[in-house]
Amino acid sequence: PPAIADAVVDLCAAARSITVLTGAGMSAESAVPTFRDASTGLWTGIDPMEIATPRAWRRDPDRVWAWYCWRAALVRRARPNAGHDAIARWQGGADVTVATQNVDDLHERAGTTVAAHVHGSLFAPRCSECGAAAPGAELAVPDAPVERLAPPRCGVCGGAVRPGVVWFGEPLPEAEWDAAAAAATTADLVLVVGTSGVVHPFAALPEAARDAGATVVEVNPEDTPITAVAHHAVRATSGSALPRLVPELPRPVPEE
Ligand code: APR
Repeated sequence: PPAIADAVVDLCAAARSITVLTGAGMSAESAVPTFRDASTGLWTGIDPMEIATPRAWRRDPDRVWAWYCWRAALVRRARPNAGHDAIARWQGGADVTVATQNVDDLHERAGTTVAAHVHGSLFAPRCSECGAAAPGAELAVPDAPVERLAPPRCGVCGGAVRPGVVWFGEPLPEAEWDAAAAAATTADLVLVVGTSGVVHPFAALPEAARDAGATVVEVNPEDTPITAVAHHAVRATSGSALPRLVPELPRPVPEE
């Protein structure tokens, strides 16, 4: 496995408050596809403007609904990986806040309390008209994957139920964004894990963290625009790096 600088291991052990900002790379080792990885990324096969925008939803809700149900079913078949488990262990013994772009629930299934899902969740469908929650609607799908599936109707107003994710061009949920921004600008150590750093406003958080005095560490097998902002870059996958970065917890009390 790639070497990890002792300086970064020491930073993680000494940090008093930690924020972990995660992207799709966090779930790659759980066989949940990322968006922009060459050949395997979701946006390799589909134009995001055709599926992840309000216009796409208005033009062909059945196609959009089917695609997000397929992703929800894929996530349900997946398992948290060693990176998710390491963050959950860390949060169990230190002041660790997680803010994620991911719409999967793998952090939660590893035992992490997630402070912010800035792009929503696959598992929070809601009425596209009145906003009423439609819990479980994303799971009412046929066994075989389908290209099109009529979205269920809202039990309150009869409107079409939509995926609970944030589409391109939509505002981020205010409370989620505020929690993510607060987490990024109050911690003394900010890890940025598995994100290509190209989708704003989340991609601006590492720089905001640095400007607020945090030490920023990027965990990603590849360089990204965040690399230039980070104080340290760990060129490894999250599943291999995080178990080695998370200190033994609870920390042994220094002998008197
Ligand atoms: N461990 C860590 N990082 C990884 C791994 C891994 N095992 N595998 C891939 N990566 C890195 C890639 O190098 C890339 O930098 O994860 C990043 C994934 O980038 P994207 O696919 O662009 O995912 P993300 O940054 O989360 O996308 C942001 O774009 O489409 C929207 O709303 C969607 O939340 C998403 C947003």
